[in-house]
Amino acid sequence: MSKITINDFFKKKAENQKITMLTAYDYPFAQIVDEAGIDAILVGDSLAMVVQGLENTLPVTIDEMVYHTRMVSRAVKNAMVIGDMPFLSYQTGIDDAVKNAGLFLKEGGAQAIKLEGGATVIEQIRAITKYDIPVMAHIGLTPQSIYRMGGYKVQGRDEEVAKRLLEDAHAVEEAGAFSIVLEAMPSELVKRITSELKIPTIGIGAGPYCDGQILVLHDLLGLFDRFTPKFVKRYTKLKEEALKAVKAYKEEVEKGIFPSEEHSFR
Ligand code: KIV
Repeated sequence: MSKITINDFFKKKAENQKITMLTAYDYPFAQIVDEAGIDAILVGDSLAMVVQGLENTLPVTIDEMVYHTRMVSRAVKNAMVIGDMPFLSYQTGIDDAVKNAGLFLKEGGAQAIKLEGGATVIEQIRAITKYDIPVMAHIGLTPQSIYRMGGYKVQGRDEEVAKRLLEDAHAVEEAGAFSIVLEAMPSELVKRITSELKIPTIGIGAGPYCDGQILVLHDLLGLFDRFTPKFVKRYTKLKEEALKAVKAYKEEVEKGIFPSEEHSFR
């Protein structure tokens, strides 16, 4: 199987096949996601919360993002690797945007980048794609804007915001984005955007009508339990399993059960 490209994204949309995406932030988890046949891995700035233990995504730096992207790229054979542009790595101007997007490809081994925003970032999208770096856009609930939005809230329930989001979706497509993440938006609005856009839509908390879906891996695996958004489905409870294993090790060491003959040298 060869590496997934943006052409596979377009093909899947044209053929009505769902695109699968997950986040990953390091070698072992990226290997699992890739081996499962997921189409694309986002090295999301959500790592600030689920890996670094921070309150929100704002503090994570471009160097930290590129460092994690490098670990993921090393593990991946087939999935497209997408680096997530952190807060203030692209909003501050075209030159910053191009230079920092380039770092994900040059140093991180990614094949594309993602950035948050609609009409306000179309100059950045134009500039980055001009240098042949594929851009995935992201509208709706954009976590880098939590202070403006007043928290992690569904976006587009009222007519005015819904109209702006529809315009944003068209604007990023026009600017050259190859795909767009729609986060925490009402299903009917998402249905309309998905049917009007030529580029694939990837949903998270956006209902069933997107061309693809993404979840934060640590949510799906039950590794992050500080809070669970309504749209998350937990497929396993890995934290509980890990806790059980670590407790069993502790007990065996304390009781002198481990290491046994089997794990010792003669
Ligand atoms: O950072 C992230 O993980 C994301 C996804 C939730 C889309 O932006």
